[in-house]
Amino acid sequence: MTHALDVVATPKDISSGVRNTETLAKGLTDVLADTYRLTFKSHAFHWNVEGPLFFSIHNLTEGQYEDMFAAADKLAERIRAIGQMAPMSMAQIIANSVIEDDEMAPTAGEMCAILAADHERVAHRLHALIKIASEHNDPVTEDLATGRAAFHEQAAWMLKAMIAQ
Ligand SMILES: [Fe+2]
Repeated sequence: MTHALDVVATPKDISSGVRNTETLAKGLTDVLADTYRLTFKSHAFHWNVEGPLFFSIHNLTEGQYEDMFAAADKLAERIRAIGQMAPMSMAQIIANSVIEDDEMAPTAGEMCAILAADHERVAHRLHALIKIASEHNDPVTEDLATGRAAFHEQAAWMLKAMIAQ
């Protein structure tokens, strides 16, 4: 006999017009992993930045990691809404992300350049997801990914503007 407390989440079929939810979930998992890792990396730079740009970078990264933390929830919940499973482990997050950590704290200027490049990489991955979502009849994921691409492109611009000569 199965008890309510024994229920384990499993992928489910959904009956909207969305097609091939496994492929969409893989794309969403990739950008969720990127978002999560870039949230941590932005937070680490927020803590360790030093020099004349301290307040600028400390404050800019705070707004960015708060936005990304909230976005990670939206991306994961979209995976569930199309019937697939969200990541269950940090190992899965690391395995699916293109973002890499820095062991040593870079200079303030290097931090801006590194984060700007990371935001651009995530924006590229989001552009791929927008295309996949369009091909699989999923305007909701397309809209979510479009909004996220806009955020990362704006973040890259602001970080680059901070170190422009
Ligand atoms: Fe803080």
